Amino acid sequence: MPANLRQTYRATSDIHTLPSHVPLGSLGLLPVNAFLISARQPVLVDTGLAIDRGNFEEALWSLVDPMDLRWVVITHDDRDHCGNLKEILMAAPNATVVTNGLAVSRLGEEWDVPQHRVRTVNPGRTVELGDRTVSFVRPPSYDSPSTLAMYDHVADALFAADSFGTVLPAMVDNAIDADRTEYLDGMATFTRANAPWTAMADQEKWDRMLGEFTALDPGSVLSSHAPTASARTGELVETVRAVPAMDPWLPDEDLEVEAVLDRYEAATANSTDTEPQGAK
Ligand SMILES: [Fe+2]
Ligand SMILES: [Fe+2]
Repeated sequence: MPANLRQTYRATSDIHTLPSHVPLGSLGLLPVNAFLISARQPVLVDTGLAIDRGNFEEALWSLVDPMDLRWVVITHDDRDHCGNLKEILMAAPNATVVTNGLAVSRLGEEWDVPQHRVRTVNPGRTVELGDRTVSFVRPPSYDSPSTLAMYDHVADALFAADSFGTVLPAMVDNAIDADRTEYLDGMATFTRANAPWTAMADQEKWDRMLGEFTALDPGSVLSSHAPTASARTGELVETVRAVPAMDPWLPDEDLEVEAVLDRYEAATANSTDTEPQGAK
């Protein structure tokens, strides 16, 4: 059994986290969370990793009856957010997907999400999911144009998609149990790795956008890639605020680029030397 999916835990009184992780090279471990809101009409936010499939479904259906699952919010079309979407839709006939139209198109490169089971929304939209009022917003950083963050007005929780994600040496359920420096430094690094375009962000516009999250000040920030962050939005915003001024981050390379170029130049020189006389 893949060991990555851990025991589910409560992020708030009625939001369950289904926590997994993947190794991210030299950076450490990247948490990968899906969430279940145990509302009158239960809402699943993202669908976990395909590698966790059997265990993910088992954990999910231990929290909610498949017949009762009503909504599946897909924050964006990346594999770590949609890994078990098809299986969940097959098991839960009353579930409707809520996502951005671009996510539907991009998912269509792999399989057609049945149109009658999808509702599309854009950032800025507030909707009722049963007794739950939720607002969709564009999160600060993201790696897909389809990305939606979702603010749950009842739980005062922001499902932040890839934003405010971090890399850690070991998994914890609540950020308070992580080393503070590792947690925040990991957040700055992951933000640059996940959204390299932040290096080109205009600091003034970046600050203004982040100000909206400071004003929202959710009680809980539930990133897809971090432990629960409770009552520390200001600290997270300050961490991300610093990102555009930082050096861009790139992963390690295995290919010895210089050696390959040297070999290419040597081969080119040899072929020139052996060209017949008079050849141009
Ligand atoms: Fe992503
Ligand atoms: Fe992600």
